[in-house]
Amino acid sequence: MNWKRLLVTASLAAILPFSGAQQDTNPCRQVASQQVQARAGIKLDYTSDQKFLVRFDGETAYKCITSVPIDNDAASTMIDVLKRYFSFQSTISYLKDPPKSYQQLPVDVMGRFDEIKAKIGNKNYTNQYELELDIRSIIRDAHDGHFTYSAGILGLFTWSLNESIISVSSDGRELPQIFAYSDILNEIKNASPIVEFDGKSVFTYLQTYLKERSDPTTVVDPHAAWNRLMQSSASVLGKTGHKPSASLAFNHFQATQVYNGPSLRGKFANGTTFEWAYMAGSSTNLTKAQYFDGQAIYEGRVLNADYDDDEFVVKAMDESSKRVQATEMTLSASTTTSNKTYVGYPTNPIVTQVQFGSGGVVSGYILTNDSVGVLSLPGFRKADGASLASYRSAVSDFITKAKKAGVKKVVIDLSGNGGGQVTLAFDLFNMFFPSTRPSHLFRARAVPELLTYGRFVTGITMNKNKLFNSSTVSVVTDEYTNNRVFNADYSRKPGNARWASFDEFYGPVTIHNDSFTNVGQYEYDDDGLTIAKRDGSSPPFKAEDIILLTDGTCASTCFVFASLMKTGAGVKSVVVGGIPQNSPMQSTSGTRGSNVRDLSFLSESTDMVRNFAHGFTDKQMKGLNITSEDLANLLPPLDKAPFVVGSSAGVNILDTVLPTSPETPRQFVYEAANCRLFWTSDMVRDITRLWSTAAKYASGDESVCVSGSVDGPGSRVNDTITDSPGFSYSTTWENANQTNISKADSSPNSGGNSGSGDEKDDDSAGNLLQLTPISLAFMALTFLLVV
Ligand SMILES: *[C@@H]1O[C@H](CO)[C@@H](O)[C@H](O)[C@H]1NC(C)=O
Ligand SMILES: *[C@@H]1O[C@H](CO)[C@@H](O)[C@H](O)[C@H]1NC(C)=O
Ligand SMILES: *[C@@H]1O[C@H](CO)[C@@H](O)[C@H](O)[C@H]1NC(C)=O
Ligand SMILES: *[C@@H]1O[C@H](CO)[C@@H](O)[C@H](O)[C@H]1NC(C)=O
Ligand SMILES: *[C@@H]1O[C@H](CO)[C@@H](O)[C@H](O)[C@H]1NC(C)=O
Ligand SMILES: *[C@@H]1O[C@H](CO)[C@@H](O)[C@H](O)[C@H]1NC(C)=O
Ligand SMILES: *[C@@H]1O[C@H](CO)[C@@H](O)[C@H](O)[C@H]1NC(C)=O
Ligand SMILES: *[C@@H]1O[C@H](CO)[C@@H](O)[C@H](O)[C@H]1NC(C)=O
Ligand SMILES: *[C@@H]1O[C@H](CO)[C@@H](O)[C@H](O)[C@H]1NC(C)=O
Ligand SMILES: *[C@@H]1O[C@H](CO)[C@@H](O)[C@H](O)[C@H]1NC(C)=O
Ligand SMILES: *[C@@H]1O[C@H](CO)[C@@H](O)[C@H](O)[C@H]1NC(C)=O
Ligand SMILES: *[C@@H]1O[C@H](CO)[C@@H](O)[C@H](O)[C@H]1NC(C)=O
Repeated sequence: MNWKRLLVTASLAAILPFSGAQQDTNPCRQVASQQVQARAGIKLDYTSDQKFLVRFDGETAYKCITSVPIDNDAASTMIDVLKRYFSFQSTISYLKDPPKSYQQLPVDVMGRFDEIKAKIGNKNYTNQYELELDIRSIIRDAHDGHFTYSAGILGLFTWSLNESIISVSSDGRELPQIFAYSDILNEIKNASPIVEFDGKSVFTYLQTYLKERSDPTTVVDPHAAWNRLMQSSASVLGKTGHKPSASLAFNHFQATQVYNGPSLRGKFANGTTFEWAYMAGSSTNLTKAQYFDGQAIYEGRVLNADYDDDEFVVKAMDESSKRVQATEMTLSASTTTSNKTYVGYPTNPIVTQVQFGSGGVVSGYILTNDSVGVLSLPGFRKADGASLASYRSAVSDFITKAKKAGVKKVVIDLSGNGGGQVTLAFDLFNMFFPSTRPSHLFRARAVPELLTYGRFVTGITMNKNKLFNSSTVSVVTDEYTNNRVFNADYSRKPGNARWASFDEFYGPVTIHNDSFTNVGQYEYDDDGLTIAKRDGSSPPFKAEDIILLTDGTCASTCFVFASLMKTGAGVKSVVVGGIPQNSPMQSTSGTRGSNVRDLSFLSESTDMVRNFAHGFTDKQMKGLNITSEDLANLLPPLDKAPFVVGSSAGVNILDTVLPTSPETPRQFVYEAANCRLFWTSDMVRDITRLWSTAAKYASGDESVCVSGSVDGPGSRVNDTITDSPGFSYSTTWENANQTNISKADSSPNSGGNSGSGDEKDDDSAGNLLQLTPISLAFMALTFLLVV
């Protein structure tokens, strides 16, 4: 890429005015001006995430983004850099060759990057968007919420529908059908299920959509991926509750960053056809950023647009992300911080975390009829304005009040919980089981760079030969507090002994034709992590009186918590939703990794190690056992790389492993919930119905569970399934078609079984229906969330 030419082009454009007509034909300029107009027409009090509701033409946005040029040299360099960073992803050898227990398709991460590089070499990409879609597809196929790459232009536009879907069963036992969400929410009589999208069966369409066009669903169970496509209040609460400014969260069906055409056509079982339009939205103020053509977008989003005459110099990543923020749309900030309400949630909580819905996410309820306490935990995030302490105290209040009310069963609802602060997982476990010491085992992929970072950090924090002064020790210790990847002083061997050195932790050991560190154990009592210490008091509730409820998407810290509750205390779990099919479903299928690290963290570690090493004596370097060659071989700092790397680029750096199967990362083990439920439309409108049903299972009523779902493979405490659980990704999707379309007219809103099911032909007049009234109802609902 010739940077001078870029400059010249840019200034020519500024000097030589195009005719108005020419300017208007540039799709980027068109969407920028449409965005300004759309904004002007919207009177609502917008808050940050609602920027995506300032919408413009989807097809024009697609033309704009595909006009962003590609620089093959820069792209090729970036792939080399990414491959080195992604070698820290702990699961790559398992992703390539997964055990039969794994329910997604294999992916050869490095092989796919090599293919991309070959395509770049052959000049096979005509624009940057095509390249980024290929990178995105690798991330999508890895199904790991800790393995992310969100950079460049891909996130500039989001295409969204103003309708959503949901699958509900008529009575909780019948196989669910897929409906327009608004039909269910508005209790439309005789609502007809959707049987086709894009001329294909809904199942074929949704399976393909998940594989090719959806944003990464990051779940290892296809049933949980299915749930990602469905409207879910818990998920909206989990995503928006902790942000004062947020009130909108799309599901994966409703919105995607991958262009999926101008509209989506479909057909109801009653024969009526419909077409839902995709509109584009952006969190960037396109006018302010001056994204008037593809070149400007390339400079702003792919390069850090800061360069001098001879050399392209990129800004530090923090500054570049600030730059992106600086051009974000400023929408009149909502001045009210009134409580948001969430569809289907009761209005009479006994406990809410401070700033519930605008910082806090915890709420607690008592279903007096059933004597059931419900603790709703849709996230474990440290919120803006609501502290971890307020999170803990809300949970502790709930326990006190529920005890006092004498509830018989406690449902802990983890639906929509994508994780957060790992300390909360241990804290909460301790609140429920104060006298149990659970163990949580992990390990990393033993890449050579890790050995250097680890020897450096651990060598200084342990400071065995007193080679380092206290200021060096305290800087490094502070920087790597609670960092079990580089600092072997913060973890223990299984059984709790200390590591003698980083080398002892590092190993490496060969497993699955790959190199791994030895297995380590979290030592959370001694390192200041927990506030709720084990105090040996008796647990407030018996394990058999607690039930975990999930929608399968439970990830990261949520997984850690669920895992402690299951393996540490024997608490059972109920899962809801999934592909319409009588089968078990896993309860925690979001990432089961222990630790995510941003690429920027790794990059900064290179800088830190090199800067310190520069001032160290030979004796100090010998003490650390780090050579100058080791230093040269560290990961290249990202500020030398040509793409802007956003903060959401990261790797899962620590696997979780079970003592019963220490060779297989937990990510690949099959672990069914003890019972699976189907959604009913009543539950959608009133979530307490779901909670009571989960509590019924806790009371021993297995009849509420989907047939074939009770105590499925891997549901028992020390059951570890690394072989086939009896089904696979392919068979699960093949069997998705067992929904009986001929019964499709049974209305989910008529209450109970429809039985008779007048057969209606699919060929009745296929009039194209614009779902305007329904869509408006849906939009109105969305806006209610803001109030
Ligand atoms: C490049 O594109 C050509 C034509 O579309 C195709 O035949 C070839 O296989 C592609 N090469 C690579 C490496 O993708
Ligand atoms: C068919 O079902 C859809 C979805 O419930 C509904 O909107 C539409 O009005 C129905 N069409 C007829 C002809 O009843
Ligand atoms: C479902 O059934 C339809 C019609 O029989 C068929 O075309 C489609 O391939 C099936 N889909 C799946 C995922 O098996
Ligand atoms: C929803 O989309 C339809 C087209 O699919 C459109 O006619 C309608 O105006 C949209 N509603 C809103 C509120 O944007
Ligand atoms: C976008 O930026 C333009 C130019 O700076 C400004 O006039 C406009 O008000 C901004 N729009 C929004 C929604 O912030
Ligand atoms: C939000 O809810 C809490 C608890 O339900 C209540 O005390 C508070 O007054 C509410 N805030 C607003 C602004 O309505
Ligand atoms: C609780 O019981 C009362 C009286 O039987 C009934 O009116 C109410 O609908 C019940 N509430 C729920 C949530 O089931
Ligand atoms: C093991 O890995 C090496 C290098 O990555 C590869 O060449 C070899 O084919 C692999 N062996 C097996 C059995 O997968
Ligand atoms: C501590 O050691 C570092 C590196 O060896 C050195 O740069 C620094 O000046 C020392 N600080 C003090 C207070 O001695
Ligand atoms: C220092 O590193 C080398 C190469 O990694 C290794 O062979 C040696 O055992 C290490 N020495 C010590 C004392 O750890
Ligand atoms: C599960 O395994 C652990 C250690 O392997 C053991 O301590 C524990 O008792 C087992 N739990 C059950 C319920 O078998
Ligand atoms: C579907 O429904 C028809 C008519 O009710 C019935 O004859 C058929 O057996 C059903 N098929 C399945 C797979 O349930």
